[in-house]
Amino acid sequence: MPKPSPPFLLFLSLSLYSFLCFHFTTVAAAANATTSISQQFREAPQFYNSPDCPSILNADEETDPDEDDTNEICSDHAVHVAMTLDVAYIRGSMAAILSVLQHSSCPQNIIFHFVASASANSSLLCSTISASFPYLRFHVNIFDDSAVAGLISTSIRSALDCPLNYARSYLANLLPLCVRRVVYLDSDLVLVDDIAKLAATPLGDKSVLAAPEYCNANFTSYFTPTFWSNPSLSLTFANRKACYFNTGVMVIDLDRWRAGDYTTKIEEWMELQKRIRIYELGSLPPFLLVFAGNIAPVNHRWNQHGLGGDNFRGLCRDLHLGPVSLLHWSGKGKPWARLDANRPCPLDALWAPYDLLQTPFLLDS
Ligand SMILES: *[C@@H]1O[C@H](CO)[C@@H](O)[C@H](O)[C@H]1NC(C)=O
Ligand SMILES: *[C@@H]1O[C@H](CO)[C@@H](O)[C@H](O)[C@H]1NC(C)=O
Ligand SMILES: *[C@@H]1O[C@H](CO)[C@@H](O)[C@H](O)[C@H]1NC(C)=O
Repeated sequence: MPKPSPPFLLFLSLSLYSFLCFHFTTVAAAANATTSISQQFREAPQFYNSPDCPSILNADEETDPDEDDTNEICSDHAVHVAMTLDVAYIRGSMAAILSVLQHSSCPQNIIFHFVASASANSSLLCSTISASFPYLRFHVNIFDDSAVAGLISTSIRSALDCPLNYARSYLANLLPLCVRRVVYLDSDLVLVDDIAKLAATPLGDKSVLAAPEYCNANFTSYFTPTFWSNPSLSLTFANRKACYFNTGVMVIDLDRWRAGDYTTKIEEWMELQKRIRIYELGSLPPFLLVFAGNIAPVNHRWNQHGLGGDNFRGLCRDLHLGPVSLLHWSGKGKPWARLDANRPCPLDALWAPYDLLQTPFLLDS
């Protein structure tokens, strides 16, 4: 048996300590906790399954709500969603969660797996989520970001260098083994369609992940001339029809990921990047190196990305042609920041209805 690398052991043991925190705290205590986040959030309404939804609870749990929840996590009918959670983006995360629930026909079958940095106050993040979503099924998993920090090279946009940005490469280690498929979502997006449809994307016989592909994007530009001029590196794309995909919305087969040890493959490219600069962006290029050309396609409606504008100036962007199931403010500008600054882009009005932040006016009343 190959010797597991130290980071793997670390994640494995930490995931044992990942804790449940629904029914974790009262709204009153959470209101105090969110004060130190310096933002207060409204409570979202409760969302119910429609009558034809399968139950993810087994009979014991339906009669005894205190029953261990292992069974519902392992239910075939659960839809698993993974997101990172931190203080800087919590307003975006809250809006994303609300949008997922609101457009789902079986919202009670959705289980959220949040990933928080080991250095964050996870009980605070947990209580903030519980206060706004008292009925949400969720777990907060602790990500030991010091292990990945050493692998990160600086990129052209410093926000991309945050270790939590790399958590998506470690989901297979962080989530329980019986979670075999997960939808990973960034925090700067909202869904306007049922996430169960996205989660059900066929992955074919071999694909590890599914995402919308953009074959018109200039793939060459994601890697440096050093990369392309070195055949031992650029040959990695030989015999692959590699296209750009955005890593902010992905359906991941965790069984296949674990079997292929793709976390290690991504880390190997990151280690190389520390020695030779082969790309300029953060967590995206290693995903392209490992997966581009071998992913299962997803309709573009599931990632209308780029609404945050470009990486440098955050100019307003328009939607791509075609239907919309998910709006993604990737890029430098974020809708909450532009709305607060009174300089919103036209499409930011589509994010605003999902904003759970209490306005100062409401707080005073
Ligand atoms: C909230 O915090 C304040 C002081 O920061 C304290 O006086 C108050 O009792 C706390 N309220 C609750 C409900 O914990
Ligand atoms: C973490 O947040 C809790 C509230 O949930 C607070 O009581 C505690 O003091 C915080 N811890 C730190 C280290 O800030
Ligand atoms: C694609 O990008 C590369 C490197 O940035 C550039 O040299 C090339 O001209 C671009 N190709 C097209 C078709 O725009």
